[in-house]
Order: sequence, then C-alpha cells, then structure tokens
Amino acid sequence: MDQQVVYADLDVCRGTGRRVPSHSPLHQDICQGPPWHRFALKLGCSILLFLAFAVIGLSVSVIFLQQTLPVSVNTVHAQENLSETTERPFASKCTEPWYPIREKCLLFTSDVCTWNQSLTNCKGSSLLLIQDQEELRLIQKRIDSVGVQFWIGLKYSPAEKNWKWINGSFLNSEMLQVTGISGKNICVSISNTKLTSEHCEAESRSICQKELKPIRKKVYSDS
Ligand SMILES: *[C@@H]1O[C@H](CO)[C@@H](O)[C@H](O)[C@H]1NC(C)=O
Ligand SMILES: *[C@@H]1O[C@H](CO)[C@@H](O)[C@H](O)[C@H]1NC(C)=O
Ligand SMILES: *[C@@H]1O[C@H](CO)[C@@H](O)[C@H](O)[C@H]1NC(C)=O
Repeated sequence: MDQQVVYADLDVCRGTGRRVPSHSPLHQDICQGPPWHRFALKLGCSILLFLAFAVIGLSVSVIFLQQTLPVSVNTVHAQENLSETTERPFASKCTEPWYPIREKCLLFTSDVCTWNQSLTNCKGSSLLLIQDQEELRLIQKRIDSVGVQFWIGLKYSPAEKNWKWINGSFLNSEMLQVTGISGKNICVSISNTKLTSEHCEAESRSICQKELKPIRKKVYSDS
C-alpha cells in the first residue's frame, strides 16, 4: 500500500495525467481526485523544486561571498588607514633636526639667546607650549644634559598675576609647577628636572615646536 502511494505521488509530479486510466483505487483517488487536490500536489512539487534551487543558489552565493569578503574587509582597512593619514598629513614627518614628541616636532636650539630673541628665532614655529605632565616627562627625558635650560613659551603676566603661555592661555598650576621668582619680565625655562623662572634677559637655549595636528582647545579655569 505504502509503495503505491509513493509511486502515485511521482506520477502526479510528472504531472500530465496521462496515466489516468489506472485500476489502482488509490491511484485514482490521487490523480483523478478533485481538481484542487491535483493542483495542491503540483503546487507542492513546484515549491519543493523552488526550494531546492533556492538552497543551491544560496550556497553558491555564500561561497562567493566567503571568497570576496576578506578582500572587501581589506579595502575598508586600507581606506581607514588612508583617511587616517590624510587627516594627519604630517604625522611622524619631523625632519632632522626636528625631533618628534607625540603630535609635535621639537627643535632644541644650541644657540643661547634672551627669551625675546628666542621667541623671534622660532620662525615659522613657536616657543614650546607644554600640554600636560606626560608631555613634560617626555621632553625632560629628551634633555639628557643636567643643568641645561631651554626657554619655553611661558612668561609671568604681572597684570594678571599669573603664568601665561604665549598662546594667551594661563598655566594650569595643578598640572605644571614653576619654581623660582615671579614678577615683571620673568620667563620660564625647562631643565631635565623642573620648570624654572628667571629674568627674561638671561641667555639660554630654547625649544621651538611645530604642531603636526591642531590640538583641541581645552578650557582651563584661571585659578
Ligand atoms: C591598517 O592599519 C591597521 C592598524 O592601524 C593594520 O593592522 C592594517 O594592516 C592596516 N591595513 C592596511 C591595508 O594597511
Ligand atoms: C621683549 O619684547 C617685548 C615686546 O615685543 C618688549 O615689550 C620687551 O621690553 C622686550 N623685553 C626685552 C627684555 O627685550
Ligand atoms: C595654549 O597652550 C597651553 C599649553 O600647551 C594649552 O594648555 C592651551 O590649551 C593652549 N591654549 C589655546 C587657546 O590653544
């Protein structure tokens, strides 16, 4: 009985009803049953066929994607790297004798000058501005000779009774401390151990800086 049912099914799938005059009652039931029954079976077969093709199609596209995906990921990486380098066109492009520290190029001058002269000598650049403790540490590590001092872009402003960077911002005294006198015509230099203040007429070496990328402006309190 079971086998007959299977054969009958297959017959219907070939679909033409050529074998209609059959003597098997079951066969007749299926193939010559009500039209909706035959239609349903045809539909079922079509769906099965469609599903089979869909599975094959999906498999093929998955294989295809697996082959192409790593390539496109690489392309994304390359594009990211590209955009990163176009954002920072000067990154790590400090040319001798400029020395790279974080996002800056620094020039440690060998000639000794007053603070004013040093300020003008850093042409096309600026006297050093120190952003934070970490930058201070990196620069001091670079100053290997003990006792040598370098003018930086920091000066006392008697009017505002505060240390003022040459970019107009006040020193954040919680972050960096200056030892020494304060007053009129007092400027700051850096050694490998500290920031020291002295008369701006004194002669020292100096550090110029060029920024590789605009540093985000931070707001400090004037305390
Ligand atoms: C992009 O940079 C990342 C790390 O920054 C690196 O792992 C990757 O290999 C680079 N890709 C290309 C294509 O240079
Ligand atoms: C430094 O320059 C400023 C203005 O540029 C001037 O007022 C000051 O007197 C100068 N200081 C010295 C010591 O030359
Ligand atoms: C000026 O320089 C100091 C020290 O690097 C920095 O903290 C401050 O944000 C700068 N101010 C401006 C307005 O760029």
